[in-house]
Amino acid sequence: MSYVLAVDQGTTSTRCILFDRRATVVSVVRAEHPQSYPRPGWVEHDAARIWRDVRRLIPQALRDVDPPEVAAIGIANQRETVVLWDRATGVPVAPAIVWQDTRTDVSTIDADLVKSRTGLPPATYFSATKIQWLLDNGMRDRAERGEVLFGTMDSWLIWNLTGGLHITDVTNASRTMLMNLATLDWDDELLDLFRIPRAMLPAIRSSSEVYGTAETVLPGVPIAAAIGDQQAALFGQTCFEPGEAKCTYGTGGFLLMNTGTTPVRSRHGLITTVGYRIGGEPPVFALEGSIAIAGSLVQWVRDGLGLIGTASEIETLAGTVDDNGGCYIVPAFSGLYAPYWHSEARGVIVGLTSYITKGHLARAVLEATGWQTRDVVDAMNADSGLALTALNVDGGMTADNLLMQIVADFLQVPVVRPLVAETVSLGAAYAAGLAVGYWSDLRDLRANRHRAGRWRPTLDSGRREREYARWRRAIDCAVLFSR
Ligand code: G3P
Repeated sequence: MSYVLAVDQGTTSTRCILFDRRATVVSVVRAEHPQSYPRPGWVEHDAARIWRDVRRLIPQALRDVDPPEVAAIGIANQRETVVLWDRATGVPVAPAIVWQDTRTDVSTIDADLVKSRTGLPPATYFSATKIQWLLDNGMRDRAERGEVLFGTMDSWLIWNLTGGLHITDVTNASRTMLMNLATLDWDDELLDLFRIPRAMLPAIRSSSEVYGTAETVLPGVPIAAAIGDQQAALFGQTCFEPGEAKCTYGTGGFLLMNTGTTPVRSRHGLITTVGYRIGGEPPVFALEGSIAIAGSLVQWVRDGLGLIGTASEIETLAGTVDDNGGCYIVPAFSGLYAPYWHSEARGVIVGLTSYITKGHLARAVLEATGWQTRDVVDAMNADSGLALTALNVDGGMTADNLLMQIVADFLQVPVVRPLVAETVSLGAAYAAGLAVGYWSDLRDLRANRHRAGRWRPTLDSGRREREYARWRRAIDCAVLFSR
């Protein structure tokens, strides 16, 4: 057996990547899928289209390889996004509600109860209120009769790949706001609170074990991992020791720190989540600082404003100026996530004068990601009592050298990028390969770790702190401008 195949079903695209034993990318294919914004604050995906993409991409990734050479398939996925489908026909019964969607109301939820059970603050981000919304809007009777199933994208793909297995993994389950962190099972009191029938939920399994085979696409090939994409990146960066952390810059930005086998409760606005679970071993937990909008702000500048033709042009445009000219953008398109957790906040651009050019706006776009990273790193340092000494980064936006320099400057620590930037896929491949003995243990995986880029802080600390104070005032404006 020569390869492991990873399927990374992300927010804006789906990738299938074939890795060999040394974690070298052997082939990569990808497809973008449409984002649907039917009303302000609503974000939807077509789950049937996403499945068709996966079914088409897998054979393309294996163009030069015999299917029996694939030892296992691992799935990483955008988390929290809700798919409901008909148990009998396998057809989605409604558009998938994407994690960024803010149509639901969380203002009356008992925050202490939810936080103590799930490690999450009540927020529109997580799955529970999205499921509840679909049930309340026409699906309740069918769900109560057991005709409608729920899953995050991992469940949806595994159901389709296996021809009807209804499972999820513990990392994805930990993002629904329905899983009890102590029992790692669905919490009956929360199911009552959100009025969600247990019968529609998938069984919760570990992140790394053989669930079944991919009968509909690669008969006989085991599906041996499912893991939320941000946890997959933590695993792909081989952050196996407590205190090790990474930040992935994709549609959003997600900083996760391994906290070992005991869940750590945050006092500074982070969330407690499952990092990964290998077979029957104890689960490993993580603290997470979630940033809703990072790469999708650049996408909006491209598609919504038409200021740039391709995402990579943001770096060139931002490079035409030395600073932001006094302009700040808070991209609270889905409210504010960590550490603020303000679902009602809305995006603002502040500090405009006639002096501001599109170069300054581009710079403010990149700086928004830098400042949001600073916010979550400050919270992580406060929670852990340790000061981060370097930040491991990955994801598509790390190709932007100016952004990486900005992050190093704003955090005042070096930023380090690994050789394989596709760490989400790599993490899914690692988890699948471990389950089938393709790699023997975590040390085997560590041996593949290679660093490719490093940025050192250069910004004067006085200027940094003055600008950070302005960023915090811009945050206040986003909160003032609530829905
Ligand atoms: O929690 C949302 C996250 O899983 C989405 O990740 O890479 O698709 O932006 P990404």
